[in-house]
Amino acid sequence: MQNKEILLQVKNVKQYFNEGKRNEVRAIEDISFDIFKGETFGLVGESGCGKSTTGKAIIKLNDITDGEILYEGVDIQKIKNRKDSLKFNKKMQMIFQDPYASLNPRLKVMDIVAEGIDIHKLASSIKDRKKRVYDLLETVGLSKEHANRYPHEFSGGQRQRIGIARALAV
Ligand SMILES: Nc1ncnc2c1ncn2[C@@H]1O[C@H](COP(=O)(O)OP(=O)(O)O)[C@@H](O)[C@H]1O
Ligand SMILES: [Mg+2]
Repeated sequence: MQNKEILLQVKNVKQYFNEGKRNEVRAIEDISFDIFKGETFGLVGESGCGKSTTGKAIIKLNDITDGEILYEGVDIQKIKNRKDSLKFNKKMQMIFQDPYASLNPRLKVMDIVAEGIDIHKLASSIKDRKKRVYDLLETVGLSKEHANRYPHEFSGGQRQRIGIARALAV
């Protein structure tokens, strides 16, 4: 992996919740790793050791307590304005662990998967939007007939696939 391009650098990151208070949680205490382009990176550890917190820090869902996270060499904590945030969010997507809690129960699969397409204005027409969603559903092993259904009409595994399609959409 040495000659490959570094995509993500996590450097001495700490994440404390409720810092200084009685209920302080030190969720991450000094983690460092690099992820290279094209690499599939697995982070393994016992329940509660800070894996999800690390993921959330990387996609900037939480502001970290200390350390540095560089994506393509850019310190993600310095991404502030809307334009740069949009650019960043387009490149980094999370597939959440709980596929039921992470899908809006009031939206049909079509609109769940198309959310990122809409935010980033990726579709040139309504027809193109539909086609993109159909293609994404096929990519994750679902079919276009599923686009018109609501999340509760799917199995857990199928719901997880909807979350993957949504992440791939951008
Ligand atoms: N928003 C939060 N506020 C307070 N504590 C949190 C918060 N999120 C996670 N934690 C705590 O941080 C620790 C790490 O959690 P997490 O990253 O979800 O672990 P896991 O490795 O199982 O994904 C746990 O003790 C958890 O209770
Ligand atoms: Mg977790």
